Parts: sequence; C-alpha cells; structure tokens
Amino acid sequence: MKYKAIRGMEDILPEDVQIWRWLEDTARTELEFWGYEEIRTPIIEDTSVFVRSIGETTDIVTKEMYTFKDRKERSLTLRPEGTAPIARAYIEHSLDKRAPKIKRFYYIGPMFRSERPQKGRSRQFHQIGVEVIGTRSVHEDATMIIQVSKLLELFKLKNFTIKLSSLGCRKDKDTFAGKLKKYLENKKNRLCQDCKERMKRNVLRVLDCKKETCIQVMREAPNLLDSLCDTCRPDFDKVKNTLKAMKIKFEEAKNLVRGLDYYTGTVFEITHPTLGGQDAMGAGGRYDNLVKDFGGPDTGAIGYALGIERIIIALKGAKILPKPITIYIATLGDEAVLRGMLYKEHIIPGLGRNKGMKIKVIGDSEGGPLKAQMKRADKNKADITIISGQNEIEKKQVTIKNMKTGEQVTVDEGTLVNTLAEIIRKMGA
Ligand code: HAM
Repeated sequence: MKYKAIRGMEDILPEDVQIWRWLEDTARTELEFWGYEEIRTPIIEDTSVFVRSIGETTDIVTKEMYTFKDRKERSLTLRPEGTAPIARAYIEHSLDKRAPKIKRFYYIGPMFRSERPQKGRSRQFHQIGVEVIGTRSVHEDATMIIQVSKLLELFKLKNFTIKLSSLGCRKDKDTFAGKLKKYLENKKNRLCQDCKERMKRNVLRVLDCKKETCIQVMREAPNLLDSLCDTCRPDFDKVKNTLKAMKIKFEEAKNLVRGLDYYTGTVFEITHPTLGGQDAMGAGGRYDNLVKDFGGPDTGAIGYALGIERIIIALKGAKILPKPITIYIATLGDEAVLRGMLYKEHIIPGLGRNKGMKIKVIGDSEGGPLKAQMKRADKNKADITIISGQNEIEKKQVTIKNMKTGEQVTVDEGTLVNTLAEIIRKMGA
C-alpha cells in the first residue's frame, strides 16, 4: 500500500473510539464536579513558549520537539505538552484580573513528541490534564492528588502507585544541584556522554537518564528531600499528612525530578504495573515560577496530565473496559419496519439519552427471512435482538431475545423499554 500513517501516530478506529469517548466523558463530568473549566489552546505555538518553560537542556526540547519554520521564517512547534500554552494563555488574556482568583482549567487533546515509538510511547499521544493557577496553597497539592486518584478509580483502575516527592523552591533546587555535582565529580567517567554534558549545563537532568550505568551511579546519590528548606519541608509534610488522613496511598520517592524544568515544590508520578518500561500513566507537580518567568504575575500553580493511551493499555490489561450494549431490531414486513422505527424512538431516550446508558440501536434495513436478519444481528455483535413479525403486531406485542443466553420473551409493546432495562441490568452492563 502506498500511504501509511506516520510512524508513532496512530489511527483510532471506531471500536477503540468508544473507549476513548468513555474516558473523555467520564473525565469531563468528574473534573467539572471539582470546579475545573475546559480550556482549548492551539496545537501549534511559538517555539520559545516550550523552550523557555520545559527547559533548554531537557530531552523534550533538545531531541523530541516537532519544530519547523513557517512561510515567514517563524519557528513554530507542535505542542509537546499542555502546561506552557495554558500559562501563556493565562497571561495573554490577563486571566489573573478576572474573578475568581484561583483558576482551574482542564484540557483533553493531542500532544507531539518525536520519541522512539514502543508500547505506551507514541509520537502523537493524548493527555487529559488539569492546571490550577493563582495559588501557592499546599492544600491544592493534596486536593489535586486526591482528585486524580478518584478519577483513576472512576476509570476502574486499581493497583496504581502514586510516587510523591518535593523539589523545594528554586534555592533548594540549587542547593541540591550543588550537592549532586559534588557527588558526581569523581564518578564522571562512569557516566554516559550525554550525562557528562548534563553535568555542565543542568546537573538535575542526570536523574532522567535511562542508561543502566548512569542509573547505577545515581543509586547512591544524595536525596533531594534532604535539601528542602524550613518552608518547603513542612509544606511537603502537610501534603503527606493530608493524603494520609484522606487514606490516599502514596510512596515517597527519592529523586523524582521529572523531565521538565518548570517544576518546584510537590511533584508526583502515577505508575501502573501493566505498562512495563513506560510505566508512568500520569504525572504533575507545582510550577510556582513559570507564570512570572513568562512575564505574568508572581503567582503559584500546580497541575498534572494523564496519558490516555497508557490508561487504555492498563484498562485492556485488566480487562475492565466498558462495552456498550447493542440492540438489533429485526422486522418482518413493511408494517413491522414501521413498528421497529417507533421502538427505536422509545428505546434511545428511554435507555440511552435519558438514563445515561451506553446503547447502540441498529434497525435491520435489508429485510428478508428472520434467519438472515438474525445472522446480521450476530455480525453486528448484538447483545439483544427485538423481533417484530405479523403475530407480534396483531397482539401489539414484541419478542426480545437475549443473544448471549438464547432466552426469548414476548411482552406487550408498552413494557418494551422496562423489559430491556431489566435484561441489561441482569447482563451486568
Ligand atoms: P509528562 O510527564 O511529560 O508531563 O507527561 C504526562 C503523561 O503523558 C505521562 O505520564 C504519560 O502518561 C503521557 N506521555 C508522555 N509522553 C508520552 C508519549 N510519548 N507517548 C504516550 N504517552 C506519553 C507533562 O506533560 C506535564 N505537562 C504535566 C503537568 C501538567 N505538570 C503540571 N501540569
């Protein structure tokens, strides 16, 4: 075949779109309960938006961005993440001057990083993210971690681990960087070429290195948490104590630096065992300097993003994906076709739209013998088939067949929706 999707950028076919929609709908409803409002920023930004925020020495900026020149020679970049564009929009629209002071945003959409594709890692991937801008209160840190774990529970995910740490303030990061440099000084020859470079330009990035030799060297490295100052240490304790009080399980992680430079204070990562090498299902943290560094007000901010593809891998691994119920309508004769159309009009609002159930109702349009229609019902993976023939019409009845068990009942038309609801309930959907 001549044309193929670009490596690392995948088509999402209808059977999977169902799952995506369910995740997105669940996230939207839940995040709006928690007071977040949706924000949509462009997919392309001025390159400097990302360089300035994510950091010149990070892997994302040095190796992974899709950057190109437009016709006027301006350098543009496909967004590799959502935080920096939102900080840019917050300042551009002077959102700090609008009430309320604390802004809560969420976003769902594609991000682009030119990484080597593998399971759970693609070049176009999608995030569900949130950002709270306008406060330094550490209560927001705990609330956000509680909120994300509730969202993952709604996705029916279990066994995820929340890894928690703190980078402290800018001064603490500098103190730690100094200690790390000293520690690495006489171990330089065991580090890879990239890390030798990182030591010169931004030593914290050595902690990101995936090379086994560098990971080994870093095992004995100083602990970042030991560099927290008298403000950042109690702040971190407050976050941990709130989570403990709310019975949210977490692990304190040593040296969780994250691959983006803008973080300060609380940082966290959520991993899931089914993901293998790329086990981070989501991550986030505080970025109290970013808005100011972008030329905006001096205000605190915190956020996280979940990787939708990785959540789906975890859900598929755990075999807990929700499945819509398919109802097929088989009709014998023209009058029955009309009855079938009326049934559809009752079923969709009665079960779907009004009750929030995920159902698909497909009416047979080709007619012919019942046997042929039942075959088509099977091909459409019907869970239930409604049959309307001459007998049923005469008695104002309808036959309902459970395609899983083969059981069949004939009921009065008026009870169709309630009977279907009962059968679906018994199916455990
Ligand atoms: P991040 O850790 O770079 O953080 O990405 C967040 C999540 O996006 C990851 O945990 C992962 O699930 C998913 N992800 C990242 N890269 C890929 C990829 N190549 N393929 C598939 N999934 C991927 C951020 O992006 C920050 N903006 C999060 C944040 C928001 N921090 C504060 N606010």
